[in-house]
Amino acid sequence: MRPVPALATLPLLALLAACETPQAPTPPAPPTPPAADPAAVALQARAASLFQALPAQPVAGSNELSAARVELGKTLFFETRMSKNQELSCNSCHSLDKYGVDGKPTSTGFKGQLGGRNSPTVYNASLHLAQFWDGRAPDVEAQAKGPILNPIEMAMPDDAHVVTVLKSIPGYAPLFAAAFPGQADPISYDNMATAIGAFERSLLTPAPFDRYLGGDLSALSPEQQVGLATFMDTGCTTCHAGVTVGGQMYQKIGLVKPYDTTDMGRFDITHEESDKMVFKVPSLRNIDHTAPYFHDGKVATLDQAILLMADHQLGKQLEPAQVAQITTFLGSLTGPLPTQAIAPPTLPESGPDTPKADPT
Ligand code: HEC
Ligand code: HEC
Repeated sequence: MRPVPALATLPLLALLAACETPQAPTPPAPPTPPAADPAAVALQARAASLFQALPAQPVAGSNELSAARVELGKTLFFETRMSKNQELSCNSCHSLDKYGVDGKPTSTGFKGQLGGRNSPTVYNASLHLAQFWDGRAPDVEAQAKGPILNPIEMAMPDDAHVVTVLKSIPGYAPLFAAAFPGQADPISYDNMATAIGAFERSLLTPAPFDRYLGGDLSALSPEQQVGLATFMDTGCTTCHAGVTVGGQMYQKIGLVKPYDTTDMGRFDITHEESDKMVFKVPSLRNIDHTAPYFHDGKVATLDQAILLMADHQLGKQLEPAQVAQITTFLGSLTGPLPTQAIAPPTLPESGPDTPKADPT
């Protein structure tokens, strides 16, 4: 047993000082919270079994995330010299200050050409099971290689030309070296896409619904909680569930009642008969800011999208009051934009050998 030091061996002054130190007053006991309404608790538990809150940190997936890589990716996201006419960047069709969309039914690309599909948001997209309406790219890194070479989007002739352009801009060499340390030749088409992917993985928008899923019942207004119940009771969660409230499976548009479209969706990728008109179920995060809706961008308002969904996917006719309830709930999926992180970067200056814009 260790000997207990005799009181007399303690310095007397210190002891006196300790006695005189005013003690912090004991904080008053917190008021007992009002007993939570059991129905509200049950609703939250039901929601927590269907949805997950956004992760606190970006998920790296196949990537290795570093501040240098994310910063390079952000610069490249705004880089117009990776387009043939040097007028288009990723941000042209996925405006980060407009919730990651262009607000058009279908996007305008090189020489004003119209694409066939609506531009989906890049916010939270890294958490989807795959990228594009038809899921043809497995992740955001693979996806980023597409639009630059797409003749009706950024229209660059080939990946070698993109690398030539990036190497001709002196300011990119140190940025790529910092983002891909230890590599002999870091400016490559793959690394360009990997850096953009790293940036996109950082684009998460935590919303009141995430706080609610985390146990803060007051994060959703009573009206939003009514809407949540309607959303679940109607059956929307058969398809729109998980961390991005959608984005986790493929489903046919017009499952119960045919939807008028000539777009074959996933069939064009898999050539399976059962994949005709099958699309990735879109995420509903920030949905009240990403009109117009559906792959063809033909649906102008969220109310109309909800009405059509109930009809075509579930064979249900919703009352206007139910549509309003669901719209109100969906508002709780909107998080503030990370304005600091997305402020447009200063693009490095062109060098003497940087190719000129080719508008032809
Ligand atoms: C001319 C407009 C345009 C440009 C420029 C453009 N995109 Fe897109 N983007 C689209 C459209 C349209 C789609 C949907 C196409 C499809 O699904 O077939 C899309 C899809 C995506 C998706 C998939 C999101 C999801 O939920 O499936 C991501 C991620 C994305 N783009 C990122 C980028 C990046 C990164 C760049 C720059 C390298 C870029 N886009 C350039 C229009 C554009
Ligand atoms: C059987 C699966 C399924 C069910 C059930 C379902 N959806 Fe969808 N939802 C989809 C698919 C697939 C799309 C994409 C359709 C397209 O663009 O062709 C979609 C698209 C949407 C969109 C447009 C998203 C965008 O970015 O364009 C909204 C809004 C939506 N659904 C809300 C709902 C609501 C509300 C319910 C319940 C009334 C519901 N959905 C039920 C599969 C489903």
